[in-house]
Amino acid sequence: MSVLITGGAGYIGSHTCVELVKAGYDVVVVDNFYNSKKEVLKRVENIVGKPIKFYEADVRDRDALVKIFKENSIDSVIHFAGLKAVGESSRIPLEYYDNNIVSTLVLCDVMREFNVKKIVFSSSATVYGVAKEMPLVETMPLGAINPYGRTKLFIEEMLRDLFVSDSDWSIALLRYFNPIGAHESGTIGEDPKGIPNNLMPYISQVAVGRLPKLSVYGGDYNTVDGTGVRDYIHVVDLADGHVKAVKWVLGNKGCEAINLGTGNGVSVLQLKDAFQKAAQIEIPFEIAPRRPGDPDEVYANANKAKKVLGWEAKLDIDKMCEDTWRWQSGNPNGYND
Ligand code: NAD
Ligand code: UFG
Repeated sequence: MSVLITGGAGYIGSHTCVELVKAGYDVVVVDNFYNSKKEVLKRVENIVGKPIKFYEADVRDRDALVKIFKENSIDSVIHFAGLKAVGESSRIPLEYYDNNIVSTLVLCDVMREFNVKKIVFSSSATVYGVAKEMPLVETMPLGAINPYGRTKLFIEEMLRDLFVSDSDWSIALLRYFNPIGAHESGTIGEDPKGIPNNLMPYISQVAVGRLPKLSVYGGDYNTVDGTGVRDYIHVVDLADGHVKAVKWVLGNKGCEAINLGTGNGVSVLQLKDAFQKAAQIEIPFEIAPRRPGDPDEVYANANKAKKVLGWEAKLDIDKMCEDTWRWQSGNPNGYND
């Protein structure tokens, strides 16, 4: 069975390539390397011990996609490709709508042309908007508070409409919580461009001396220690969730939104402490003002993933920190080393 992976050179895509090949699937990657490097795929090949077929192309390029579908017998698609920085999406919303929405439209149109109607889509917990209660359950009302979130929400709606129009489709809308960690080999991991927006890469770059100290955004939230609480999930668990989702789309018809989280909330200071323990390095920090738009707590109800996909997260916060540290300490400058 052959899976086309858009954005397969990215952080989550690269880990998913590894787990899919391990599970016996053939993978074909399409990526324009806008936010990743070709080196990533070489490292994936080293981990799995065989070549990875890849196309350097933009998913919005219809002709390029048609060529890929003609040259390969694709059975299902995982669509990771997209822009993902929340803050940036408010500065350049048109680029976000263009990249995220147009890529999905073109991809689904070409899939329909080749009668490949099985897709796993990278959604996000951000589609719950400002939720009134926790944990987040898939049936709760949806909303969005920034252009990035709106692209995810619109795409979910588009894919639901597609299924209503043609029930031959099989669509998994995977709502990720906060992916962190790296492959156990320490050879692939998260390598954000510029100064990281997200907590874990920020902490790990402080640990290797690329950044002087961590700013903890807000110490007066209504949480266990006053700092923001999130549901961090090991990227390898997340990748395994995709393997299970591919199996589901191949064997079923329907359109299902499914949370991929652990169900556990961890605060900023708890994550920092776990990282310090794993790395045996003190992380200097200061309590800074809140970041606008950040909620107190976000965590999943992960029951549906277990019921529908037979998947649950296995790796704990200590393992997430150990694997992040192995990656970051071995590659202090990411893939530029
Ligand atoms: P990433 O930026 O590391 O990977 C995305 C990949 O897609 C990159 O390799 C990039 O070069 C490629 N790409 C972007 N636009 C493209 C296009 N038009 N054509 C071809 N390739 C293109 O991001 P990631 O963290 O691996 O996230 C993957 C997906 O998961 C994204 O859709 C993101 O919105 C979603 N997501 C991520 C998180 C997170 O915290 N990392 C959380 C929720 C959802
Ligand atoms: N934080 C800090 N300092 C930092 C960075 C983050 O204290 O330098 C805090 C934040 O205030 C928050 C927590 O760490 O309390 C996690 O922040 P991240 O930026 O790592 O993650 P978010 O939960 O804010 O954002 C993530 C994804 C988004 C997605 C959002 C909602 O990165 O793509 O979850 O699901 F939209």
